Amino acid sequence: MSKVECELKINGLSKKINIYNDKPLVYAIRNDFGLTGTKLGCGLEQCGSCAVIIDGEKKLSCNLLAIECEKKEIITVEGLKIDSELNHVQEAFRNFNAAQCGYCTSGIIISITALFDKNKKPSSQEIQNALDGHLCRCGSHSVVLNAIESLKEN
Ligand code: FES
Ligand code: FES
Repeated sequence: MSKVECELKINGLSKKINIYNDKPLVYAIRNDFGLTGTKLGCGLEQCGSCAVIIDGEKKLSCNLLAIECEKKEIITVEGLKIDSELNHVQEAFRNFNAAQCGYCTSGIIISITALFDKNKKPSSQEIQNALDGHLCRCGSHSVVLNAIESLKEN
């Protein structure tokens, strides 16, 4: 199998990379762009740790081909910062210490950012729907929910 040139735009930075055409986006993000906040967990669209925002929508990057993401705006957890400051979701998670090992955290922050970008006052059901598919083996769920609830008050 030969490599192909692929131009990706991640967090506003465009870069051409040479990759096999079956390379999942998560590997391009981590290995070719050096953005290790996006985690590879299950690789099967079942844990949520690899979530990124693509053209405004949350997507799982483990089963998306990198070459299918050309000409799209890809945002990782590193790209959520605004003028070098944490965004409101990142800030809430920091204030509430809403993580233990942190492996699931960037994926959850991506999903919640995508939710609040569209809906400033989501219902509990909408929050649960956004969290559906995000696994946390450390059991940080209650403090994560507290951090998210605090966002509704702002
Ligand atoms: S690594 Fe993508 S959903 Fe688990
Ligand atoms: S904080 Fe460890 S998996 Fe969620």
